Amino acid sequence: MKGFTKGFIISSLAYLVFTGILGAAFIPISNIPNDIAISTYGLLVSVVHSFLLGFVTMMIFGVSYHLIPLFSERDFYSPFLAFIHLALSNIGTLGIIIFMLFLNYAVVKISALIVVLSLLVFVFNMFFTFLSSPRQSEIHNPFGKGDKEADKAAINFTRWSIIYLLIGCPLGAAMFFKPALIADFRPIHAHINLMGFVSLMIFGVSYHMFPRFAQRPLFSVKMARWQFWLANIGLIGMAISWWFAGSVSSAGRHSYFRTHRNSGRLPLCL
Ligand code: HEM
Ligand code: HEM
Repeated sequence: MKGFTKGFIISSLAYLVFTGILGAAFIPISNIPNDIAISTYGLLVSVVHSFLLGFVTMMIFGVSYHLIPLFSERDFYSPFLAFIHLALSNIGTLGIIIFMLFLNYAVVKISALIVVLSLLVFVFNMFFTFLSSPRQSEIHNPFGKGDKEADKAAINFTRWSIIYLLIGCPLGAAMFFKPALIADFRPIHAHINLMGFVSLMIFGVSYHMFPRFAQRPLFSVKMARWQFWLANIGLIGMAISWWFAGSVSSAGRHSYFRTHRNSGRLPLCL
C-alpha cells in the first residue's frame, strides 16, 4: 500500500476517534452557560464535519487511491500531488473542526478554502492519470479481471461522485463566508455531499466489487445505467427545488419545521 493511501486511512480512523471525543463533549458542554468559549452550535458543526469530512471522506479517498491504479491499469500521474492532497485536506479539515469549536470564523474560512484547494489538486492528479497511457507491465490485481461493461457503469458513478464533492464543498465554504445562505443552502449542501458524493461513490465501488466478490457478472448492467440516471435526476431535482423553495419561502419553511420539532410532532423523517 502506498504511503499516501495509508496516510488517508490512518487520518480517517483518527477522525473517527476525534468524532467520538467531540460527541462525548456534548454532555459536559450542554451543562455550562452559553457565553463560555465553546458553543454547542460550533461543536455540532465540528462533530458533523469531523465524521463526514474527516472519517467518511478520507476513508473514501484512501480506498480510491488504492483501487484506481488497479482498475484503471495506470500509475498515478504524480504521487507527490497525492501527498499534497493528503496534507492540505488534513490542514483544512482540522482547521474547520478545531476552530469552529471557538467560532473563529477567520481561520474556519481559510481552512474551508484549503479543503476546496485540496480537492482541485486531487482532480488535477486524476485528470492527468486518466490521460496517461496504460501501464505496460501488469500489476497483481487481487480482485481479478473485471467485467468491463459493469466497470464502465461503475466509473460513471465514481466520476459523478467527485463532481458532486466539487460542488458540495464550495457550497459549504460559501455558507461560512455568507452565513445568510445557510438557511437555503444547508440541505442542498448536505444532500449534494451525502447523496451525491458519498452514496454515488458507494454505488460505484459496489458495482466494481460485488461481481468480483460474488465471482459472477452483474445481473443487469442496463439496470445500473438506469439507476445512475434516476439517482442524478432525482438529486439535481431535489437540489433545484430546495433552492427555489428556499428563495421563495425559506423563513416559512424553517419556522414550520421548528414548530413541529418543538411540538414533538415531527413530520416525515425529521
Ligand atoms: C470544504 C468542506 C466543507 C465545508 C466548508 C462545509 C461547511 C458547512 C457549513 C457552513 C454548514 C452549515 C452549518 C450550520 O448548520 O450552520 C454545513 C452543514 C453540513 N455539512 Fe458541510 N461542509 C463541508 C464539507 C462537507 C462534507 C464533505 C459533507 C458530507 C460528506 C458535509 C455534510 C454536512 C451536513 C450533513 C450538514 C448539515 C449539518 C446540520 O444539520 O447542522 N459537509 N457544512
Ligand atoms: C429521496 C431521498 C431523500 C429525501 C427526499 C430527503 C429529504 C430530506 C428533507 C425534506 C430534509 C429536511 C431539509 C430541511 O431542513 O429543509 C432532509 C434533511 C436531511 N437529510 Fe435527507 N432526504 C433524502 C435522502 C437522504 C440521504 C440518502 C441522506 C444521507 C446519506 C440524507 C441526509 C440528510 C441530512 C443529514 C439532513 C439534515 C440536513 C440539514 O440539517 O439541513 N438524506 N432530507
